[in-house]
Amino acid sequence: MPTVLVTGSNRGLGLEFVRQYLADGWRVLACARQASTELDTLLSSDRASTFHRLEVTDHDQIDALAAELSGTPIDLLLLSAGTMGGVDFATKGLTVGGFGGSDFEDWERVIRVNTLGPMKMAEAFVDHVQRSEQRKIVALSSMVASMQNNTAGGLYAYRASKAALNAVMRSLSVDLADRKIIALPMHPGWAQTDMGGSQAPVSPRDSVSGMRRVIAGLRREDSGRFLCYDGTEMPW
Ligand SMILES: NC(=O)c1ccc[n+]([C@@H]2O[C@H](COP(=O)([O-])OP(=O)(O)OC[C@H]3O[C@@H](n4cnc5c(N)ncnc54)[C@H](OP(=O)(O)O)[C@@H]3O)[C@@H](O)[C@H]2O)c1
Repeated sequence: MPTVLVTGSNRGLGLEFVRQYLADGWRVLACARQASTELDTLLSSDRASTFHRLEVTDHDQIDALAAELSGTPIDLLLLSAGTMGGVDFATKGLTVGGFGGSDFEDWERVIRVNTLGPMKMAEAFVDHVQRSEQRKIVALSSMVASMQNNTAGGLYAYRASKAALNAVMRSLSVDLADRKIIALPMHPGWAQTDMGGSQAPVSPRDSVSGMRRVIAGLRREDSGRFLCYDGTEMPW
């Protein structure tokens, strides 16, 4: 039975990953700052799967969890936790987070969650991933990380944090190649979650089933690519 560790597993795409991997017979290590009723219900159906409290900006907590899980092979480290900070994209769309009056403290928080969190998780859990069969690290990035696609401007903090995440994942793909670990960022599509909002065209179920299909088919030569949930290539 393969094992997946999911961050941000209490709601949104992280929760949907838990639902689908459990249904597929995986052991799930579900991490979140706080469990949710839906997550508790899902986990209660499988005794091998467990909840782990995890704030991804708390590096001591990450180290403690890595130590607690020492010796546990993790086939897929799935880094879903993310934030747009104080920006309300779900109701206001791309017009928010524009030029002028930047909240730099908020910006730093966004970077700590979206960029430093995944990097710290990769460093803390690399041995767990290396001792697994599948050896994959996937971080949820975004189409707005793309320089080429950025014709709308705005969203400074979120764009910068996800573009930096892409740089992190690309470097991991190089640095972890000798450990036979596949690392890459994925765009989940514009999905109906608290972050994406109700007008988003993609359901969490389709986003996650698409990403799972892509992840299942990854080969070593795919490491470092920037892929969409439907398997197409994203422009850097
Ligand atoms: N939905 C989209 O359209 C879309 C598009 C592109 C990329 N993405 C990316 O996909 C990922 C999942 O997004 P989503 O749509 O599922 O968002 P969401 O519904 O807003 O959920 C965000 C998740 O991240 C967790 N999180 C936030 N800050 C955290 C922290 N400091 N420590 C631990 N967990 C934290 C939240 O936990 P709490 O409940 O504790 O806040 C929640 O579980 C994110 O990385 C996002 O940037 C989403």
